[in-house]
Amino acid sequence: VLKMAELDLQGKTVLIREDLNVPVKDGVVTSAVRINSALPTIKLALEKGAKVLVMSHLGRPVEGEYDEAFSLAPVVTYLTEKLTVPVRLEKDYLNGVTANAGEVVILENVRFNVGEKKNTDELAKQYAALCDVFVMDAFGTAHRAQGSTHGVAKFAPVACAGPLLSAELEALGKALDNPARPLVAVVGGSKVSTKLTVLESLSKICDQLIVGGGISNTFVAARGYNVGQSLYEKDLIPQAQKLMADLDIPEVTDVRVGTEFSDTAVATIKPVDQVQDNEEIMDLGPDSAQALADILKNAKTILWNGPCGVFEFDNFSKGTEVVAQAIADSDAFSVAGGGDTLAAIDKYGLADKVSYISTGGGAFLEFVEGKVLPAVEILEQRAKS
Ligand code: 3PG
Repeated sequence: VLKMAELDLQGKTVLIREDLNVPVKDGVVTSAVRINSALPTIKLALEKGAKVLVMSHLGRPVEGEYDEAFSLAPVVTYLTEKLTVPVRLEKDYLNGVTANAGEVVILENVRFNVGEKKNTDELAKQYAALCDVFVMDAFGTAHRAQGSTHGVAKFAPVACAGPLLSAELEALGKALDNPARPLVAVVGGSKVSTKLTVLESLSKICDQLIVGGGISNTFVAARGYNVGQSLYEKDLIPQAQKLMADLDIPEVTDVRVGTEFSDTAVATIKPVDQVQDNEEIMDLGPDSAQALADILKNAKTILWNGPCGVFEFDNFSKGTEVVAQAIADSDAFSVAGGGDTLAAIDKYGLADKVSYISTGGGAFLEFVEGKVLPAVEILEQRAKS
């Protein structure tokens, strides 16, 4: 695909699609990983002398209606602090918007626009008419064929990949295509059902698969143990059993249980076969966590998505911490992705120690599943024609 870095952008109007879909609380951005990852692209466009328009979605608002709760205003406030040039929020842009050299114009949440999600040609042409060059840089939204990710790339005079998108594809490619082995994947989070396809895909390529969190509970149940009140999915026990038969999935031997789902719940460590009916597994026990850390120590490539326990509760965060620390300490090429994963990395201050932190949640999982990302595919098609 065509790359933004290779293009002469002097005096050109550049429309950059970023994924600035970040958590916001009381009008303040609470995790800026995605914005920080987009900054080099915005700065590069400015350095190249472009007039810079940036668009993104935020959350899932009702289409066709402005809703302040989904405004990109908090993102603009954050960007204003991080950039030395003026940053302006533009609400009314579909019929044209002028950006001056040396300023950044943020176009208000694209999901307010009718036709964004349905990817109508009408809207896509309006986006395309705003620019000389469209830069797709939103890896986190590249799995969505929407107006601002896919449609606009069909009609823009020039469509290219931004540096962040390119870096993401390269890092994930390095971990998945011909990786240094052993390749160990860590898949945590609450439900097997939302990650079943990724677990199945990984089971074909990785040497060991570590499951954590609620996902792990389903595997514990699949081994015939009582999981008490734990979050788990009974219906998916056969799938868990098949995965265990196909692949080396390290078995949990001890767990931390509590009797209520709360951050004041007391954690009790016990062997996995001793869980009572009134207890719920909320974290790995120390032996299990250490066993996983030992596996990760010897890995050459690590893919990580999802926490290993209820790490938001301090009493149940140790398992995730030990695993995260082991990933950080290992010499492996490590790639982490997903909102909760990033929050865990933040919590333990390990951001500098993971080889690559992906801004993708759903996109990260779809890429790992081997699915084609439509917003990347259209860039490839444009490059061919
Ligand atoms: C994400 O957070 O995974 C992306 O920004 C995509 O958001 P969406 O799932 O609402 O399309």
